[in-house]
Amino acid sequence: MRKIPIIIDCDPGVDDSYAIALANSHPEFELVALTAVEGNVPAVLTRYNCLCLRETFEMENTKVAYGATVPLVRQYFREISVTHGEGGVGGIQFEAPTKEPEQKEAWDVIYEEAVKHNGELVLFAVGPLTNIATCLRKYPDLPKYLKKFVIMGGGTFGNVSATGETAEFNIWVDPHAAKEVFEKLEVYMVGLNATHAAAVEEKDFDEMIEVTSKGTNKASDFLNKLSKFSKENSFGRGEDNNVIHDALAVAGEIDPEILNYKKYYIHVEDREVKNVGQTIVDLEGTSGKEPNCWIAMDVDQPKFVQMMKDMCKYYAEK
Ligand code: BDR
Ligand code: CA
Repeated sequence: MRKIPIIIDCDPGVDDSYAIALANSHPEFELVALTAVEGNVPAVLTRYNCLCLRETFEMENTKVAYGATVPLVRQYFREISVTHGEGGVGGIQFEAPTKEPEQKEAWDVIYEEAVKHNGELVLFAVGPLTNIATCLRKYPDLPKYLKKFVIMGGGTFGNVSATGETAEFNIWVDPHAAKEVFEKLEVYMVGLNATHAAAVEEKDFDEMIEVTSKGTNKASDFLNKLSKFSKENSFGRGEDNNVIHDALAVAGEIDPEILNYKKYYIHVEDREVKNVGQTIVDLEGTSGKEPNCWIAMDVDQPKFVQMMKDMCKYYAEK
């Protein structure tokens, strides 16, 4: 069987880690590279986490390449993340990685792999879009080599605010990059509307914890700890669900019935105004602008949750 080559540009990140685990468990994907960007935690940590995740999931053939350390224009620095725990991946201590990253930078690896796979590569970006924007600046013909470009980001509501308004985190960290990317690439956007509609319940984490407790390998042990962190960090703090944003973007490419996309015009606010980082979706077509972005509108939540549980089973039984 000819596999679909994929790259995940990411900022691990708890939900990034689930996304990587899910992609790696899918028999039809060849996970060609993880490319690290700044975001949930500083780049030094997202880079380290990519290296560690590669070894945790025994992804010997997956490259890890380092990308941007800061957004294109905005000043942004976040040392710790309450959502993602110490170090960025639920406070989990990894064994020190043994394999080195690529000498080449993230944007060079993305472009070279896209050219190599000539129209077959599916590129996921589940962190701020700094690496992708940089890649497009350096290689304006990138779009013609991609099969599909799927992001987790944006939405009609937000989850971060520093200005009194609200925006989705990935777009908010680097709105300038997002604006450029939306202008240059056909984006399949899995935003907050979709990810929140696919939220995972406490009983589902209990099952994930139970299944992975039976595994006897690094990956299963890691997913057991990660599920426990997810459970504690949401339900343990009185919330009634937990959203595994980034994994949904991957899940939609594994089973197209999970996400239903519709095309709309989208505007990214990149000016230093109150609502910087917002993705304004022209749902009614009033702007008169050509739709430029496929937005995930409907989600099959039970299917997604089942996929997460099956993924845990896959690693536990390895
Ligand atoms: C996005 O922001 C990050 O915290 C998550 O990893 C996800 O990519 C959700 O807004
Ligand atoms: Ca992320």
